[in-house]
Amino acid sequence: MEIIIKTDYEAACEEAARIILRAWKKRKSLVLGLATGRTPLGLYEKLISLHKKGEMDFSNVIAFSLDEYFGLDETHPQSFARYMDDHLYRHINIRPENIHRLSGRPAEIEEHCRAYERKIRSVGGIDIQVLGIGKNGHIGFNEPGSSLTSRTRLKSLTRETVEANAPLFKEEGEVPRFSLTMGIGTILESRMILLLASGEDKADAVARAAEGPLTAFVPASVLQLHPQAKCILDEEAASRLALKDYYRWTYENKEKFLARLT
Ligand code: F6R
Repeated sequence: MEIIIKTDYEAACEEAARIILRAWKKRKSLVLGLATGRTPLGLYEKLISLHKKGEMDFSNVIAFSLDEYFGLDETHPQSFARYMDDHLYRHINIRPENIHRLSGRPAEIEEHCRAYERKIRSVGGIDIQVLGIGKNGHIGFNEPGSSLTSRTRLKSLTRETVEANAPLFKEEGEVPRFSLTMGIGTILESRMILLLASGEDKADAVARAAEGPLTAFVPASVLQLHPQAKCILDEEAASRLALKDYYRWTYENKEKFLARLT
């Protein structure tokens, strides 16, 4: 895992957007896997701004949602479909046919999940998967205990996650207990992973994911196995990393080292 520590949330989002822009520039197309939640909001703002400035064209970008609450319609204000439309898709020129989502109300759950995996494969796989991290170390809705080789499927949410989401819903009975999520095995097949984390409340999960043992108990720790996983953090999220000075030094000197080698 490459750990990139930025001074604040804004700079972390800037860095993630820069990586995505650089990848897009190589081929003028890109397959993205996209997370929802509080964390990637700043990144999506940066992508919208790149588009508005004419620096990034999304007409050949294909996007896959990472997950969706089970039981919610696409139009529900808390659905991830609505989130992606509101915070990214309707501000850029992505083609509707290039937007892929997991349905919160699939006719047949297992077939829907299999079809999603087939769709990802049919476009050649995901180039960059954007992730946030839960305080319990979850990625997507792969909660602690998820199989490290899991595929897209229905997943029950932990009490902690249900409680964290509850304030967003008007009625208690509305709060989702299940989700559809890309599996950990699905996520690991992406060519690059960008995990963003911000704030002190994520510091413990980040330290356990990056420096703790590889364990299904901390699903994000599986990113230690990925050859192109970048963890982009602000100072608070990085505060409990034992090797943070080393990561900072390596990142700051990376360009210099590479120049010397070529
Ligand atoms: C969202 C998702 C979740 C979040 C995680 C962090 O699509 O899959 O894993 O990334 O719960 O959420 P925030 O960013 O709201 O702290």
